[in-house]
Amino acid sequence: MAILVTGGAGYIGSVAVEHLRSRGEQVVVLDNLSRGHRVAVDPAVPFYQGAVGDRGLVARIVREQEIESCIHFAAYAYVAESVHDPRIYFENNLEQGIALFGALEQAGVKRVVFSSSCVTYGEPENLPIREDSRQWPANPYGWSKLLLERVLASYAMSYGLSFVALRYFNAAGATAKHGEYHEPETHLIANVLRVAAGTQNHVCVFGSDYPTPDGTAVRDYVHVSDLAQAHGAALDYPRQGGTSEFVNLGSGRGHSVIEVIECARQITGQSIPIRMEPPRPGDPSQLVAEASKARNLLGWVARHSDLATILRSAWEWQQRNPTGYARERSEHSGNR
Ligand SMILES: NC(=O)c1ccc[n+]([C@@H]2O[C@H](COP(=O)([O-])OP(=O)(O)OC[C@H]3O[C@@H](n4cnc5c(N)ncnc54)[C@H](O)[C@@H]3O)[C@@H](O)[C@H]2O)c1
Repeated sequence: MAILVTGGAGYIGSVAVEHLRSRGEQVVVLDNLSRGHRVAVDPAVPFYQGAVGDRGLVARIVREQEIESCIHFAAYAYVAESVHDPRIYFENNLEQGIALFGALEQAGVKRVVFSSSCVTYGEPENLPIREDSRQWPANPYGWSKLLLERVLASYAMSYGLSFVALRYFNAAGATAKHGEYHEPETHLIANVLRVAAGTQNHVCVFGSDYPTPDGTAVRDYVHVSDLAQAHGAALDYPRQGGTSEFVNLGSGRGHSVIEVIECARQITGQSIPIRMEPPRPGDPSQLVAEASKARNLLGWVARHSDLATILRSAWEWQQRNPTGYARERSEHSGNR
């Protein structure tokens, strides 16, 4: 029996695939490569190029590959883009997500791990953010995730589906094989390191008047390897009879934009010029996780998520892959 990983050619998905295979799991990837990279998936992994909303394709994959569970990473994930063009977020993330869950349910796949997000909380009322904190997203991307959480909760109640919705805080860092490469790149750490490497001139700092100690936005950074490990634990949880759950994945520590840049300057030895910009619409001021539920329920601890370790791993990957995955875009075939 195999695990279907949607979005396995993307940043977090590719690291999760690497981790699951190291645990001896059979993994199958479905990705339309709209924002991912074929080369980020090992050629030995069965790869289907297509959309998660293609019900016929999902039914065929479940049949051909004997799928027992699904980890659903595939989504668009840019806050600002979702504010400018909400339609593509509701169509790609919500509409296609509903089609995927429907096709899985009808094909008898009863276990799902879902990539949700801290953006479902919106501007938090209290910090750190607990799983039962108010959820009121500040942007359409967050709504697309929150609504899919509700779909899963309804299907769990009515169809006997069991799910773990993992609300990641800010993914960052790299493994020896896989790192973050988006075009355009909107994530702070990846952008800071592009500046350190000389491929960008400056880092834009969006907002300097937030109610935070230095006025810049505060985020909780979690190493992508730690995230990958949590997916293994989340797969084991329902296999061992656990119920459906919503779980934060964060380090429990917040770092401001300026702190991240300072730490990157120390690690890279580069000056990393900055340019102050107005705050972006839809960006909450602070997002920091209360992460004890993941520990108690899944036995998960963020072991590699201190800021220096995250930055060092991402910097090493950046130096080994100065053009990210761009060079290899046309390599690899064998798509199904
Ligand atoms: N990166 C973060 O900090 C972060 C934080 C919270 C939640 N998340 C969530 O984690 C998941 C993975 O994030 P990521 O940073 O790896 O993103 P990513 O863009 O690197 O990867 C997403 C992958 O999904 C694929 N995809 C998108 N829409 C698809 C569709 N309709 N059909 C098939 N494939 C499709 C893309 O081609 C890409 O390979 C997303 O669901 C995102 O919302 C990410």
